[in-house]
Amino acid sequence: MKKITIAIDGFSSTGKSTLAKQLAKHLGYVYVDTGAMYRAIALFAMQNGYINSELFDKEKLIASLPSIKLQFKFNSDLGFAEMYLNDTNVEKEIRTIEVSSFVSKVAEISEVRAKLVEQQKEMGKDKGVVMDGRDIGTVVFPDAELKIFMTASAATRAQRRYDELTEKGDDVSFEEVLHNVEERDYIDTHRDNSPLVRAEDAIEIDNSYLSREEQFDVVLGLVNEIIEAN
Ligand code: DC
Repeated sequence: MKKITIAIDGFSSTGKSTLAKQLAKHLGYVYVDTGAMYRAIALFAMQNGYINSELFDKEKLIASLPSIKLQFKFNSDLGFAEMYLNDTNVEKEIRTIEVSSFVSKVAEISEVRAKLVEQQKEMGKDKGVVMDGRDIGTVVFPDAELKIFMTASAATRAQRRYDELTEKGDDVSFEEVLHNVEERDYIDTHRDNSPLVRAEDAIEIDNSYLSREEQFDVVLGLVNEIIEAN
């Protein structure tokens, strides 16, 4: 069966990765979480003292980019690929609220974006890929056969993120999470370099009131239509 490219963009915590993983599993496609790549670079910057609440040494981070190796390694127990930063599994470390609070600043740097976009294009060159992020349908794969743009209200997204973090045992308040969601929305949509915008040919899905299953059924219907038409 012909393989296609599926680009899923949208605001943070709209469930992009949940949908992308469901689709990849069902279709036997590769799933690429591009947010994990930006998060790993932010973690690297934190570990090396290039970013904290008082400073951000962009020049040092840019100079270090050639020495940063990012890889996805499939974990068959989990059913998805985990992020490795310079040969260390950082899947847990990149999901903390600290990384979330610095990652948008790191993702604004054009040198960072150029490096990651190049890797992402390479990973999807044979199609049969579901990639989620902010610029997949606009910059990484402008010719993707299916583009989805996901939205939900900030409060709905903050609640989902808060539930996830507290379930993992993170000590955060709902207000802190909501503030982080709103701040990231602002930076992601206002940056000069590849801001989060809906591609003209993307299909918008507001999942504030859709269950995971309903959302999956809607998108799978679209995938099947496209595969049959191709
Ligand atoms: O999807 P996420 O929340 O894990 O993404 C983390 C951050 O990375 C997010 O604030 C924006 C940035 N990002 C980006 O700029 N471009 C992408 N393709 C993916 C993520």
